[in-house]
Amino acid sequence: MAIQKTHHKAKFTKPRSPICILTAFIACISVLYLVSSLVSTPKRIQKVEIKPNNLHNMHEKYLYWGNKIDCPGKHCDSCEGLGHQESSLRCALEEALFLGRTFVMPSRMCINPIHNKKGILHQSGNMTSDERWADSSCAMDSLYDLDLISNTIPVILDNSKIWHHVLRTSMKLGSRGIAHVQGVNRDDLKEKSSYSNLLLINRTASPLSWFMECKDRNNRSSIMLPYSFLPSMAAKKLQDAADKIKALLGDYDAIHVRRGDKIKTRKDRFGVDRTLHPHLDRDTRPEFILCRIRKWVPPGRTLFIASNERTPGFFSPLSIRYKLAYSSNYSSLLEPLVENNYQLFMVERLIMMRAKTFIRTYKEEDTDLSLTDDPKKNTKIWQLPVYTKDGDEC
Ligand SMILES: *[C@@H]1O[C@H](CO)[C@@H](O)[C@H](O)[C@H]1NC(C)=O
Ligand SMILES: *[C@@H]1O[C@H](CO)[C@@H](O)[C@H](O)[C@H]1NC(C)=O
Ligand SMILES: *[C@@H]1O[C@H](CO)[C@@H](O)[C@H](O)[C@H]1NC(C)=O
Ligand SMILES: *[C@@H]1O[C@H](CO)[C@@H](O)[C@H](O)[C@H]1NC(C)=O
Repeated sequence: MAIQKTHHKAKFTKPRSPICILTAFIACISVLYLVSSLVSTPKRIQKVEIKPNNLHNMHEKYLYWGNKIDCPGKHCDSCEGLGHQESSLRCALEEALFLGRTFVMPSRMCINPIHNKKGILHQSGNMTSDERWADSSCAMDSLYDLDLISNTIPVILDNSKIWHHVLRTSMKLGSRGIAHVQGVNRDDLKEKSSYSNLLLINRTASPLSWFMECKDRNNRSSIMLPYSFLPSMAAKKLQDAADKIKALLGDYDAIHVRRGDKIKTRKDRFGVDRTLHPHLDRDTRPEFILCRIRKWVPPGRTLFIASNERTPGFFSPLSIRYKLAYSSNYSSLLEPLVENNYQLFMVERLIMMRAKTFIRTYKEEDTDLSLTDDPKKNTKIWQLPVYTKDGDEC
């Protein structure tokens, strides 16, 4: 079975170099896939009501937030990392769930250049902002399994036939078909008949970040989708790759070591280095990791490490106690299908989620094991980095 699937993926290997062709190719495959799934397996899309004749019945109503997740303020050329954008996407999906509407997903997700080592970003002087954006983005359905998402919240893409049909219909209906709203709260959109009866609500989300619309997230009872929702909705080919790697790893534990952008320092006015996460650089070094995780991970275990640390051999000291594994150990499996770091991280995340013991960089829930006690949330206080050990447990 595993071998069969490998064959299936081989078709992604060939047209790698001209990225445009590749992208078009993948988009094409996705469209074909979507179309064929429409034709052949209608039950997989039961909640999406894609068949055009259903549209005339107007059973489905739609919610549109725009075509870019999380355009961060004025800097729409760029975007934030995957986790940040997922917070925003989840926020929009929660609203669709709350309103009982089909969500119109952006068909592409912007890739932050610092998260893109695959070189899709080739800066060629005078492209327009939209061209640059398209150039540094990837197809949403290359990241997520939309049918799977649709089992919870029906979604369609904003480059689909059905979306164009909805737009045309909404325009024909005029003020009974579409409203462009901004700053109207969720309850009104749901309760007031002037909104609730409309085919399409075009919601102009916060130009800063979509997740700003979910600022009441601290109110636990208003959270409808867990953080794990989008990570577990990874596209089929990414799920398959993760399954194969998990099978090869056997019984394993995992750590996620966030260094990269998080450990950056900046000089204060006296030229002294300061950081937002004072213990992070220390706590994510191998000798400190060894000490921290010894109470959770017995010697001899296979330890899967996902990290944005790029120094070769950085984690090798951990091999005195553990059998180390990275996604790079499985590059022959991943290279042919992973086009960017978002996809790579999604595979790594699926692997980490299934580890026997999983240790995050930061504690997110009370029950989480973590490498550092520094809070994840940006404290906005630039502090002196600490490299010494306070206790002497190890
Ligand atoms: C970039 O702009 C220059 C002049 O402003 C023009 O000659 C050139 O064709 C443009 N390149 C592209 C790729 O559009
Ligand atoms: C949605 O509303 C915004 C702001 O009013 C507008 O710029 C945009 O064109 C609208 N989109 C659609 C699809 O109607
Ligand atoms: C929290 O959210 C629930 C459900 O949306 C709401 O009924 C409640 O009033 C909210 N509580 C606060 C303190 O905002
Ligand atoms: C993964 O590769 C590293 C070298 O990069 C090697 O030391 C390690 O044993 C490999 N792990 C597995 C599980 O094959």
